[in-house]
Amino acid sequence: MKSKYSMKFIVLFIGNLLFSNFLLVDEEVNVYTSRHYDSDTQLYEDFTEETGIKVNIISAKGKALIERLRSEGANSPADVFITVDAGNLWKVQDYGLFTAIKSKKIESTVPKIYRDENNEWIALAKRARVIFFNKGKYSFEDLENLSYEDLSSENWRNKLAIRSSNNLYNQSLVASLIARYGEEYTENWAKGLVKNFSRKPQGNDRAQIIAVANNEADLAIANSYYLGLMLSGKKGEKQLSAGKKVNILFPSQKTNGAHINISGGGILKASKNYENAVKFLEFMVSEKAQKHLVENTYEYPINSKVKPSKIISQFGTDFKEDSLNVSSFGKFNSAALKLMDRVGWQ
Ligand SMILES: [Fe+2]
Repeated sequence: MKSKYSMKFIVLFIGNLLFSNFLLVDEEVNVYTSRHYDSDTQLYEDFTEETGIKVNIISAKGKALIERLRSEGANSPADVFITVDAGNLWKVQDYGLFTAIKSKKIESTVPKIYRDENNEWIALAKRARVIFFNKGKYSFEDLENLSYEDLSSENWRNKLAIRSSNNLYNQSLVASLIARYGEEYTENWAKGLVKNFSRKPQGNDRAQIIAVANNEADLAIANSYYLGLMLSGKKGEKQLSAGKKVNILFPSQKTNGAHINISGGGILKASKNYENAVKFLEFMVSEKAQKHLVENTYEYPINSKVKPSKIISQFGTDFKEDSLNVSSFGKFNSAALKLMDRVGWQ
C-alpha cells in the first residue's frame, strides 16, 4: 500500500515538474534592442525575477535590426523592438511593423508627446541634445539665452564641435528645425553652422565634449547623458577629468526649449507573446526600472515619479523642454539628410 502511494506521488511530482517546465519555456519575450548599455541586462533579469517571463535578447545597431525586422516580416520571432532616437521608431512604424500597445498603465505614465498617437511606440527615457562649454572659458552669463538658431551666427566662426551628419541624433535635431521652420530656413541655418565647425566632424558625442574640455572648440553639441557617463568614472580617468572641465547649457530656454529625443520601444505586429511584451514595456516604465535606468545611463526618466541621477541633475532639472512631437524626427529625416548633404555637413 505504502509504495503505491509514493509511486503516485512520484508520478504527480514528475508531471508537475514537466508542466512547470513547459510553462517556463512558454513564458518568454523576445527583444531586439539597439540600446548600447550593458546595464540594461540587469533590468531584464529583474523583469524575469518579477514575472517569471524569460527575456531573450538580440542586440545590434538600430539600422541592422530594422532591416532584419523588415526581412523577417510576419515570421519575425521578435516581440519588442527597443532603440534610441525617435527617428528609428518612426521608421519601424512607417514600415507597418508595429502594433498598438494596449495598456492603461503605460498611457498614464508616458506623456502624450513621448508616444505615438496610436501607441505603436512609446518613450522609455529622454535625453536632451545640449550645448557644452568649458568652465574656464565661459560663464553662464556669457552664453545666456543661446539658442540652436544662434549657433549658425558668425559669432561662432570655427568654434563649434559636432559629429558627422550620418549620426541620427544630429539628423533628428535638423529634422526638428525643418518641422518648425521649413526647409529654406533650416538650410540657411545649416550653412552657417557648417562654417562654424572648428574641425571636420569626427568621433562620437563624448569626443565633442572632450574637444571643449581641451579647448579645441568653444562649444560642443552632444547628448546630455554622455557627460553623466564621463563623470561616473565608468569611461576612465581621462574622460572623468575632461568631464569636470565642462558645463551644460540648455539651449533655447527663452524660446522653444531644449531639443529632446527619446529611447523607446514598441511591440511588433508579428509578436507571438503580445501579453508578455505589454508586461515587459509596463515594467520598463515602472518606478523600479526607471530608477535603474537613470542611475546607469544618466538619461532623464519618462516616469515623473522618478528623479534623474544626481550626476546629471546637478546641471539643472527644471529646464524648458521643446514640446515638438518627436514623431516629426522620422517624418523629416530624409529631408534632413539631403539638406545636410547639400550644405556640406560631412
Ligand atoms: Fe547615445
